[in-house]
Amino acid sequence: MAKLWSGRFESESSKLLEDFNASIGFDWQMWREDIQGSKAHAKMLAKIGVLSQSELDSILGGLEQIATMIESGDFEFNNSDEDIHMAIESKLTQLIGESGKKLHTARSRNDQVALDFRLFSLRANTSLRHSIIALMQTLLHIAREHTHTIMPGMTHLQHAQPVNLGFHIVAWCCSLQRDVQRLQDSFKRNNFSPLGSGALAGTPYGNDREFVARELGFSAPTLNAMDSVSDRDFALDLLYDIAMLMMHISRISEELVLWSSAEFGFITLSDSYSTGSSIMPQKKNPDVPELLRGKSGRSFGNLMALLSVMKSLPLAYNKDTQEDKEGVFDSVRTAQISLEILRECLATTRFNTENMRKMASIGHLSATDLADFLVRECGVPFRDSHHITGKVVAYAEKKGVDISALTQEELQSIDSRIKEGASAVLDIESSMQARDSLGGCASAQTLLQIESLEMFITQAKSAME
Ligand code: ARG
Repeated sequence: MAKLWSGRFESESSKLLEDFNASIGFDWQMWREDIQGSKAHAKMLAKIGVLSQSELDSILGGLEQIATMIESGDFEFNNSDEDIHMAIESKLTQLIGESGKKLHTARSRNDQVALDFRLFSLRANTSLRHSIIALMQTLLHIAREHTHTIMPGMTHLQHAQPVNLGFHIVAWCCSLQRDVQRLQDSFKRNNFSPLGSGALAGTPYGNDREFVARELGFSAPTLNAMDSVSDRDFALDLLYDIAMLMMHISRISEELVLWSSAEFGFITLSDSYSTGSSIMPQKKNPDVPELLRGKSGRSFGNLMALLSVMKSLPLAYNKDTQEDKEGVFDSVRTAQISLEILRECLATTRFNTENMRKMASIGHLSATDLADFLVRECGVPFRDSHHITGKVVAYAEKKGVDISALTQEELQSIDSRIKEGASAVLDIESSMQARDSLGGCASAQTLLQIESLEMFITQAKSAME
């Protein structure tokens, strides 16, 4: 069949070119956006008098019919159509005849693809926010149950100070909250309609771009036609937002991998989210968090790839930008499934709280509390209290116990400045509860943080309704 643009050509294009040039192999995924955009465009054309009511009706009917065909798998995508835009337009003309040929009036594929891809990216943005929030809800549910579950807090992956499991999980949620906020910001920044920009310079038809923007749910039309057809910042924003999200997911996953090892023993992953080894029958592997950790790689790559495509491109549209889509599709798909599976994996994980508690009694985690006690209650300058505590730690090490196990008598025999009440502050639970400063790990503070995140979720959800 002749190409829609074949007027000035004398011979047919080579098969090799056809396959190389075509984007329909992947951009068919924007068929919903293409049809949605075409409907709005057609309504606008009728509004400004380019289409009659009956032409509009038959175009809208034809587009509906095409949507049904694609949905039910009755639409064949062919490289000879080049892209989803021309595939749908040709099919429309095939279905409804002459009026189908009028749909592309006052429109170019340049503003059409800019529109479709923007709609796709914004839609993905919203659905990712929903999925991140679902993950946060699962995490906060777990956090609420564990505001008293003592575990070792770490720096340098070494036992540092006792915290509670809820507090640690809230820390994860804070990074996810920023991911939602980043998506909210980029949604707002990019929610403008490029349709009506034409090929690069606008159109001579007096397109009602405000109408189209409203019809499609954008906040307004974009400002400048030339920028509109060449801008892919919306896609880069999304790729960056996803890269950050996947980086956070990789950090959570890394902790799940560590925690599920025999060395930590903090969690037991459910059988349904673990895998076995083909040679070692005893093994249960944390493949899910490992794969999640690994998936961040491609999301960073997709961001770098599109930055490289866009670098140095002259205005306005260039075919290079056809390379913008596959990475975005891949990142969106990757992030979606990652969020979903991480949520499921966490919801089915068993937290071995006794083990966490046991590990918190290793490494003299309350040493700082003794130093603080000496300052506050015994009038010892911090430098001296640090030194005295060091001696207490050395004594406990020699005895082969944690400092929290030392008695008041033992403490006083090490240094007479250690007053009554010191052994109580060495208790791991009181050490955790003592960090009651704003943002600290005390159970009451952890609960406040959980409530604040829950409030954020309520607002973020209602903003998407
Ligand atoms: N398939 C193209 C893309 O993805 C659509 C726009 C083509 N425009 C053009 N003038 N060749 O970018």
